[in-house]
Amino acid sequence: MVVVKNGQQHKPVLLAEVLEALSIIENGIYIDCTFGRGGHTRAMLEQLGDQGRLIAIDRDPEAIRTARVLESEDKRFSIEQGPFSILKEVADRHGVTGQVNGILFDLGVSSPQIDEAERGFSFMREGPLDMRMDPDQGISAAEWLASAGEREMVEVFSKYGEERYAKRIARAITETREESPIETTTQLARLVIEVIPGQNKPGQKTIHPATKVFQAIRIFINRELDEIREALDQALEVLSPGGRLAVISFHSLEDRIVKRFMKKAASGDPFPANLPVPVSMLEPKLKVIGKMIRASEEEIAVNPRARSAVLRVAERVAA
Ligand SMILES: C[S@@+](CC[C@H](N)C(=O)[O-])C[C@H]1O[C@@H](n2cnc3c(N)ncnc32)[C@H](O)[C@@H]1O
Repeated sequence: MVVVKNGQQHKPVLLAEVLEALSIIENGIYIDCTFGRGGHTRAMLEQLGDQGRLIAIDRDPEAIRTARVLESEDKRFSIEQGPFSILKEVADRHGVTGQVNGILFDLGVSSPQIDEAERGFSFMREGPLDMRMDPDQGISAAEWLASAGEREMVEVFSKYGEERYAKRIARAITETREESPIETTTQLARLVIEVIPGQNKPGQKTIHPATKVFQAIRIFINRELDEIREALDQALEVLSPGGRLAVISFHSLEDRIVKRFMKKAASGDPFPANLPVPVSMLEPKLKVIGKMIRASEEEIAVNPRARSAVLRVAERVAA
């Protein structure tokens, strides 16, 4: 477990399973695309020998601050700040493209990002409506809500939040912002609660009404799904033959992308279905390893965040 500012903690999810999936080679080269607070990175470094290398990426300045300390203490480790869609660029710069033995993605936000009210990710904590993983890039959630058209909002809430009441919520936002801007997390959460019918029926197990809208805005303003698509494509070039790709997703939109990507890369170039082409000619780029892995009940009991985690693993096939 990693303890950070304000005593917040980030427990790495599916740690043993990730280490097994990556099957760390003593002096291998690894890339952790989502450093966070370095939970997975530290465990990987423990298994790496003196000549091993681990490069990590994160776009969050707080994550980078933690990583810089580790970088100064461990010469095998380097950190790069930026979106992980610069994966190939990072690998090129470090001269490791095509030689990397394992790449890890632990997608989404970290516990400290959620817990710090001023980052604006949580509807449970009063804070400015920001939600940028890198607050120096792009526009905040509040800026987007101030300027987005109603149709654009409906599309975002439906596509990235699968929110049934997308239209009602978008309409309420447009009407509210004519009176006063929506600038805080709790302001938006209250608006959603007022708009969505039939909340909090006694005995009914429900998620907070604002969950889906917050997820949708976060995914949209951080370009989360495009980032995953772009980085996964690059991982194929960065991995060495036999190199492992391990991806942890936290919701179905992410997992669907990962699952389809692995399936497609494992089935190779598309040929008309009726042609009798041997598998070797299809040139598959990946081999899927095992089935998707979920956290054990024991892990979920100590880390509820693990409940929705899904790990998928694949191996780069020799060209
Ligand atoms: C779930 S946390 C990772 C936690 C980490 N494995 C640990 O054990 O501490 C996800 C991290 O990935 C970062 N992240 C998410 N999407 C990113 C992207 N597209 N580019 C770069 N970093 C990203 C977030 O800023 C966050 O720090």
